[in-house]
Amino acid sequence: MTPDARETVDAYARHVNPAFMRLLGVLGYGRVFTRAEGNHVFDAEGRRYLDLLAAFGACPLGHNHPALRAALLACFDASPLFFSHVGPSPSAARCAQMLVERAGGDLSICLFSNGGAEAVEAGLKLARAATGRPGFLSCHGAYHGLGLGTLSVMDDTRLRGPFEPLLPGCETVRFGDVAALDAALRTKRHAAFVVEPILGEGGAVLPPPGYLAEAGALCRKYGTLLVLDEVQTGLGRTGAMFAFQGAGDERCTPDVVCLAKALGGGALPIGATLVRPEWHRKAYGTMDRFDLHGATFAGNALSCAAACATLSVIDAEGLVAAAARRGEALRDGLAQRLAGHPLVREVRGRGLMIGVELGPVDAAGLARLAAPLRAVVSEKLLGQWIALRLLESGVIAQPASQAWDVLKLTPPLTLTDTDVVTAIDTLGQVFDACRDVSSVLAAAAARIGRNALRGFAFP
Ligand SMILES: Cc1ncc(COP(=O)(O)O)c(C=O)c1O
Repeated sequence: MTPDARETVDAYARHVNPAFMRLLGVLGYGRVFTRAEGNHVFDAEGRRYLDLLAAFGACPLGHNHPALRAALLACFDASPLFFSHVGPSPSAARCAQMLVERAGGDLSICLFSNGGAEAVEAGLKLARAATGRPGFLSCHGAYHGLGLGTLSVMDDTRLRGPFEPLLPGCETVRFGDVAALDAALRTKRHAAFVVEPILGEGGAVLPPPGYLAEAGALCRKYGTLLVLDEVQTGLGRTGAMFAFQGAGDERCTPDVVCLAKALGGGALPIGATLVRPEWHRKAYGTMDRFDLHGATFAGNALSCAAACATLSVIDAEGLVAAAARRGEALRDGLAQRLAGHPLVREVRGRGLMIGVELGPVDAAGLARLAAPLRAVVSEKLLGQWIALRLLESGVIAQPASQAWDVLKLTPPLTLTDTDVVTAIDTLGQVFDACRDVSSVLAAAAARIGRNALRGFAFP
């Protein structure tokens, strides 16, 4: 490792996240990434990686897109007032207008924030203030962020545990289950039904066709707001500008749409919560309520300049259509390449949000293991091992954070045809070397043992 990289590792382990650094040493993930350009990332040793993770979909333009860079430099050159606390900000106004035009329909108010959890939190607060109802309904396996409000609408016990008790009145239903949704909503206890159009961190899980439209109709019927968390699916990721505008869901009319990640072009933190005006009026429409929601840096000039540039590049380069086309090529290519693989259950996805679900757990090799060990191997280890082997083959991809048995791909929307071929070839080769679960287990155990002797050092 170079001296600079060693310094980074030591300081990070001392001052930022010691446990994360140890964890990276368990299997041998340890790399210091020092540069990123287009669809590739480079480490301190000069190795190049195709980025199929792209910060969980936060880099729609790839890394350091020249138009984004130019827009940020121009923003500084104009010496703007960065904030909007004493008057309206031109860049926030422009950004809100661009978002509203793209969302269409009635989503005409934009609440700015600094990221995904804040954008969802804004939706939750607005729903409570507008309806006067206490409860929230959300889905099993959802991911909405790590704030106290957003954790309250997630059912992951590991993430929630240390922070209990969370908000009261929160319930979950099965994702995609219209009957369960109807039964829960008819109690009229819920201010909002919060849902991702596709479960992202839950493992790229698609609902049945028309689910969002039916959810919207039920929410309207029972006076509950439909809050769509498009933090991961929004801005072209699924082959539509917003996932709720995709085929089959055209009739869906959400009350609130939450955006973040891609909105900052992979460079700046920004969240936006688009709201129908009648709900906004009810929640914050009077002069004694105008400041009930906000944050110091929400809608700052630099983040808004990044968002405007990102939306412009998405349009100018046709990235929404590109995501649909290349996403289909990648998904279908992978499905073909991995067909019949004993450890691949399914390849699925929409646009450039793709999941490779691992399994089946009863594959011959796994069936010989005791049940608890089988669960650990199939649900935890396999996905991490494959991600590690991919990294060592020059491709960055990770298991979904709530479903480690699903390898999730959320590459930049600028992915090229060549990148698609590289991705299919590399995944194909790595999976070829992992057909037999016993040898995967033996290799992983040997690796962990070796790294343990080195104190799980990085690297
Ligand atoms: C669907 C969804 N909502 C919310 C969030 C939280 O976003 P952030 O990490 O910016 O707070 C995420 C992050 O992965 C997400 O995928």
